[in-house]
Amino acid sequence: MTDPSTCDLLIQRALLFDGSGTPPTVGDLAVTDGQITVIGDLRGWHGREVIDAHGLALAPGFIDVHTHDDRALLAGDMAAKTSQGVTTVVTGNCGISLAPLSLRGAPPPPLDLLGTREDYRYPSFSAYLEALDRQPPAVNAACLVGHSTLRVGVMDDLDRPATADEIAAMQAKLREALDAGAIGLSTGLAYAPAVKCETAEVQALAALLKAAGAIHTTHMRNEEERVTEAMDEAFAIGRSAEVPVVISHFKVHGKANFGRSVETLAKFDAQRRQQPLGLDAYPYSASSTVLKAEWVDEAPKVMVTWSVPHPEMTGRMLEKIATEWNCSQEEAAKRLQPAGAVYFAMDEADVRRILSYPHTMIGSDGLPHDAHPHPRLWGSFPRVLGHYARDEHLFPMEEAIRRMTSLSAERFGLAGRGRLMQTYAADLVLFDPKNVKDRATFEDPKQPAAGIHTVWVNGQAVWRDGNSTGARPGRALRRRTR
Ligand code: ZN
Ligand code: CU
Repeated sequence: MTDPSTCDLLIQRALLFDGSGTPPTVGDLAVTDGQITVIGDLRGWHGREVIDAHGLALAPGFIDVHTHDDRALLAGDMAAKTSQGVTTVVTGNCGISLAPLSLRGAPPPPLDLLGTREDYRYPSFSAYLEALDRQPPAVNAACLVGHSTLRVGVMDDLDRPATADEIAAMQAKLREALDAGAIGLSTGLAYAPAVKCETAEVQALAALLKAAGAIHTTHMRNEEERVTEAMDEAFAIGRSAEVPVVISHFKVHGKANFGRSVETLAKFDAQRRQQPLGLDAYPYSASSTVLKAEWVDEAPKVMVTWSVPHPEMTGRMLEKIATEWNCSQEEAAKRLQPAGAVYFAMDEADVRRILSYPHTMIGSDGLPHDAHPHPRLWGSFPRVLGHYARDEHLFPMEEAIRRMTSLSAERFGLAGRGRLMQTYAADLVLFDPKNVKDRATFEDPKQPAAGIHTVWVNGQAVWRDGNSTGARPGRALRRRTR
């Protein structure tokens, strides 16, 4: 037995934000074997590594509940996320997951947001999770199965509802994924591969979730004029399946809908009393996804984030490209296909209202495969902490942290994470609450935040003083049956 007052890592005199939303207290925290072992006054303790954190904040590592990091986890150091203090990501959102699917041709949009044909090489979900085990990522990952991915794998024509046989085939794939440890099913009903699916098709799939203790997340069918109808569809799916539903990147899009978050939040809040619901949001008034000519009309400004035939147009405004080409913006959008874009089409007042709602979790919706990504990929969490909490006083810092940690862990069923608590995983972020700030911009989006000192995943440092350490201590977090 070793001396009980020694540990691997001792962090002293930190301002401890425990993730619960209560105001911080000054104290010490000890870590051994990747777990938080003691929190309190640890004078006289010894650590293999000791950090004097006087003046700095220590919080549970942030959970990015809305990501498209399926491929990025396997590819690199995840600096876009670790540099923000993120220690766990939820992948497979918006109906698109890398698994289960092996492709022979190019991935149809929006599956091309995740990667290329070669990246779609996991015919089963267990094959994907095993790849994460063999080649551990820098951060932890909880993985959703995408409905559009299932459709692409099963249907020869996506432009119609699935037949009974096709639904049965998708159910079999979903069952395999849930058995392997997927945490739920996501949909992206606004996107081409799923737009023709009927509610009953999703209900038939979601029916498998309850027995598995899994959840449902949705990029709704509509975030514009018909947003409340789309909410009703999401609620109905949750009720029939008797599972929690998370509405992804909760927003109202398009000039005609500015201000409607008053209505949509009231509707959400009333329904929350009838069934388990959650929602996430990113802290920007511009969205980002594939470039579609039909969507160009709704946005006053559109920026190109990547283009296969015209990579030289990356990072440029569509309006300027159209002028140069002497054509309409719709025509320019067509010529740039396949491509991605940022759409400047939300009202800042709606963004603030949604962020201020106490049940809103923070999710970046970052697109790591984009050549010139929306700044939310590198900036979301520090932007909420610095810009919206500290500078704009939308809510106190402890409340901002709760929406990135304990609230998210509870909603997504991530046991033993999201709080500073004895026996919890040592996923930690040490940051300067006075200086934390996003630096990624629409012009220069791949910029790490200021004020994030050190980030630990399962007790190992992954980000320190402006650099990745190269460590990859993350794990695939398989769903535990409740
Ligand atoms: Zn989405
Ligand atoms: Cu998304």
